[in-house]
Formats: sequence, structure tokens, C-alpha cells
Amino acid sequence: MCGIIGYTGILDAKKVLTEGLQELEYRGYDSAGIAYFMDNTIKTIKQEGKVSCLCESVKETAAEDVTTCGIGHTRWATHGGVSTTNSHPHTFGKVTLIHNGIIENYKSLEEELQQKGMEPVSQTDSEIAAMVINDCYEGNPVKAIKAAVAKLEGAYAFCIMFEDFPGVIYAIRAGSPLVATHTEKGTIIASDMVALLKYSKNYFVLPEHHIARLTVDDITITNMEHQVVEPKMLHVNWDVASARKGGYDYFMLKEIHEQPEALKNTIGPRMVNDLPDFSEDHIPDSLFTDINRVIITACGTAMHAGLVGKNMIESLTRIPVTVDIASEFRYQNPILDKHTLIITISQSGETADTLAALRLAKENGSKTLSIVNVKGSSIARESDYVLYTHAGPEIAVASTKAYTVQLAAMYLFAFRFAYAKGLLSEEDTKKYMRKLENTIQTVEELLSYDEEVKPIGKKLKKTKDLFFIGRGLDYALASEGSIKLKEISYIHSEVYAAGELKHGTISLITDNVPVIALATQANVYAKMISNIREVRSRGAKVILITNADAHVDASLCDYHIMLPEMDDAFTPFGAAIILQYIAYYAAVSRGLNVDQPRNLAKSVTVE
Ligand code: M6R
Repeated sequence: MCGIIGYTGILDAKKVLTEGLQELEYRGYDSAGIAYFMDNTIKTIKQEGKVSCLCESVKETAAEDVTTCGIGHTRWATHGGVSTTNSHPHTFGKVTLIHNGIIENYKSLEEELQQKGMEPVSQTDSEIAAMVINDCYEGNPVKAIKAAVAKLEGAYAFCIMFEDFPGVIYAIRAGSPLVATHTEKGTIIASDMVALLKYSKNYFVLPEHHIARLTVDDITITNMEHQVVEPKMLHVNWDVASARKGGYDYFMLKEIHEQPEALKNTIGPRMVNDLPDFSEDHIPDSLFTDINRVIITACGTAMHAGLVGKNMIESLTRIPVTVDIASEFRYQNPILDKHTLIITISQSGETADTLAALRLAKENGSKTLSIVNVKGSSIARESDYVLYTHAGPEIAVASTKAYTVQLAAMYLFAFRFAYAKGLLSEEDTKKYMRKLENTIQTVEELLSYDEEVKPIGKKLKKTKDLFFIGRGLDYALASEGSIKLKEISYIHSEVYAAGELKHGTISLITDNVPVIALATQANVYAKMISNIREVRSRGAKVILITNADAHVDASLCDYHIMLPEMDDAFTPFGAAIILQYIAYYAAVSRGLNVDQPRNLAKSVTVE
């Protein structure tokens, strides 16, 4: 939520900042702004709307300004509505800042400041932070930041400019992410590596509660005791093109098409002599023999990957697995001990609730393993073990490739778990691994099903409500199909275990209500067919997805998508592509901005 960037160097800072904000726009797109040094003063340009609106404003109002140091922000509103006044940067006195996060005690701080005669102009918690820092400022920025953050409660990543220190940017974070790099052309700091890629593939994560001081030549990091700290450098092999649309209409479509590659990169390095191998991930087999319970916790799509993973882990190991929504897990006083393994799944590695769930598990002595896409992210750093997915940057708000590689990571985990415990023979483990590897080819094949799915998307153009039904693995997958459709097409949809429908919800099935039925599992196929007949006889329009060998009576559905030949346990990899396409083409047919759905942001760093 919210993308922030700071640059000081020898380049045109307005260009660096606005280009960087375009890369970060997936994090929030209500309004945007920049502030920069012009001689010894700070100028600010803010604009409601997308970053492109800000770019226009910058061209119109500041074409002549030459600057080499500034900060920029793209907002996802939390406190205070969407308006130019509430957009960042915020200035108070000598302090101009941008903020990602939430200052939870901002109301009480505001009252204190008001008693001293200070009034904010916006409704934001971020402006209050600027006021607090300014109030603590007596000429020494580091001292002021240190004193101010001692008063703040909540999550923050700040980039701060002090009017008295032209060309210098200060930054600090707690909870919210910040990564930085130093290049020959200056120093740059941002919420996400994608904004730095153009300048460097080497970067570091600013440690929490440390202050970074960026100048043209250098970044100095000091801890709260004023000691200089050397950051740990990281490297990504993503290239600039991986964060560009590359000829596709939307990032989402590009990312759907990147799934075979993402799967190859995630599975390949862990397939040694046809067996699952975690040596490079430093995950010892003792982990598997020490645990008697697994809890998977995550949010949104990542949680849905956990639902599929549960199925595979339980069926191979007979170890109980529960899947919890991270924001619920945290507050339900979970039963945790050292024989419980907590698996957190997160594309960004920064989701606030998932991170908090991980911390809770650690405090209670459980072992923790995370499945994360972004290297060096908070969840990755704080977990005992990390299984990185290698999807490359995922920019579209709707998660696609991150989901299928999360499934792959879950399956690899289940295979190694069962193998390490002696529950799966070497031969059988190899068979499973080969089936997993084969999904890459199948997913590749399914990418050409777009022509088949497009008419379904078009048909949903005017749809208001829709149902997904499935059983077992298909039910887990249907949850993902439903969120995908809702978030980008704004069609209301609900997901039901097919057998549950008649316990209430079937009253909503009337003429022409679309039902997307997943029936890829042989063990419940006959039951699914009965459930489909139940909705069909009440007038539902049925879109049916089956495995290759299904014999489908034409009267059963309006559309039938048949997956290529796949083992039942692996159909989520294939059916996911169809569901992603349905959501995508439904949104396109409704003329929506697929990559930037309303009210959403990619990385949810607030609770
Ligand atoms: O970065 P994370 O994987 O932790 O994000 C979790 C969810 O916010 C995310 O999967 C969200 O549900 C997606 N936008 C759905 O497409």
C-alpha cells in the first residue's frame, strides 16, 4: 500500500521520481506527488488521480525546474479521503515527508500538537508524523527522527527531506518495506526493488529502526545508538523487461503467460535426480521429522494456495494441516508448540497480517517456514526457513503466476515431507516429481485456450452475481477463481462446496444465473454431476471445467472447457489458467482497468 521513492544524485530527479512512481503504481493509485529541492527550498507537486495525472502536472507546472534530489509517493488512501490535500508529500515547518503505513496513535499526537498551537491541513496520519518530526527538530535531522519515532505507534516507511539540508534524504522504517541502492549516478530508495531495477540489480533492505542518510555519493545507515551499520547486499536477476508490459495489453495477461517460466524456475532447481531437494534452500529433513502438525496462514490468493497445499500434504503424510486466514489466526489465541510448523505464504513477503502471524508463531516457539516471492522481504527474513518462489516481479494487483508457483512450492514441500518421513518410496516420489514437472508443459498448452475462454468472459459482461462450485481440490481452487473474478471484474461471486449449495444457497439459483462448476476430481465426479443437474434444473447457466477423460452430456452445461490430460491431484495448475482467463476476459469485456482495480493495492502492508 502506497509506493514511495527518494533519489539524490546527478540525474533529473523529477524524471527518476515520476518513472519510479510508474513502476510503483501497483501499490496504490488514488493520488500521487513529488517534492524536490530547488536551490535551498523544497517545491511540491501533488495531484489526485493516477501517476500519469501527476506527470502532466509536473510537465505543466515545473518544466523549467532543474533538480537532482527529491521524494515521490503514490497513494492508497487509509486515513483521509482521496484528495490533492491528503496526497503526499506532506510538509510541516522544515520537514517534508512521504509515508507508507499507518500511524495508529495519530489522533492523540494531533491533540498534543494542537495544544501547542499547531494545526494540520489534511486528514492524514502522515501529516501528523511530519508535524511530530518538525516539533522534535532543532537543527539535527537524525536526532529529530529518533525522538519523533519514539512517539509513533504503528507501521511506517518514511523518506524525509529537511529544508536546511538540500540534497540529502533521510529514511526510516518499521513494518513497511524500504530497499535502497547506490549507483554511480546517485543513491535511490523505494518501497520495492522494481523501482530500482533500471539503476541496479544490487540492493539492500533498510533494517527496521535504522536511519538511512542518502547523499549523492553514499548511503549511511545508523542504528538508534548512532552506530554505523553495514547493510547486507542482495542481488536479483530480474531484468527491467520483467517489470514492463512487453507488448501485452495488461500486466495480468503478461503474467498469466509467464507461468510456464515461473514454474520452471521454481521447480527446476529443486529437482535433483528426479527427487525434491531443498539443500540449496537450507531446509533440513530434521524439520519434517520434528513436527506433528502444520498450520498454513496467509491472505487472499496466497491463502488459497495453502488450501490446495493442505490437500496434498495431508494425503501424503497424514499429518493434520489447518489453513487460517492470517488476520484471523493472529487473534484466535492459536494452539502452538515446538512441534507445530507454521507455513506463511506471501508473494510480496510484506503482508502485514501474515507477518504478524509469523511473529506470533515464533513467539510461541513454533517452527516457521515461508513461501515467498520477494527476496529479502520481511517475511522471508524473519522465518526460520524460506522456500523462495521464482515468479519474477508480479505487478498486476490480481495474483496469477505467484499463485501457481505457490502451488508448486506447496507440492514440493509435501513430496519432500512424505519422502523424508519414509511415507513415500523413492520411486513414488520420483513419479510425483515428474507429474509436477509435466504441469509446466500442460500450463504452456493451456495458454492457447484463451480463444475458447474469451466468449465466456464476454458473456459475463452484464452479469451481477455468479457462483463457483466444486468439491475437494476443486472447491479450494474455486475460492481462487472467485476472488480473481471479483477483484478485477467487480462481479459479485460466491464459492460453495457443491454439496453445501442445497443447504440454503440454492434459493439464489434462478434463471440465467451463471454457475462455474469445477469437476476435475474423479472421486467426486458423479456427485458433482448431480449437483450441476440441481442448479441446471433451476435455470442456471453452467460453465463446466473438467479433466480430459470426463464424458459430459451436452445438456449439462452451456460451456465446457476440458483440460488436457492431467493427474487429478495436479488439475489446480491447469484449471487455474482457465479461471484466470475467465476473470481477465470478463474484466476486459466490461472495459475495466484490469491491472489497477478500484480500492485495491498490490502489497497490503496495513492491518
Ligand atoms: O503479497 P501476498 O501474497 O502476501 O498478498 C496476499 C493478498 O493480498 C493477495 O494474494 C491478494 O489476495 C491478491 N490481490 C489476489 O489476486
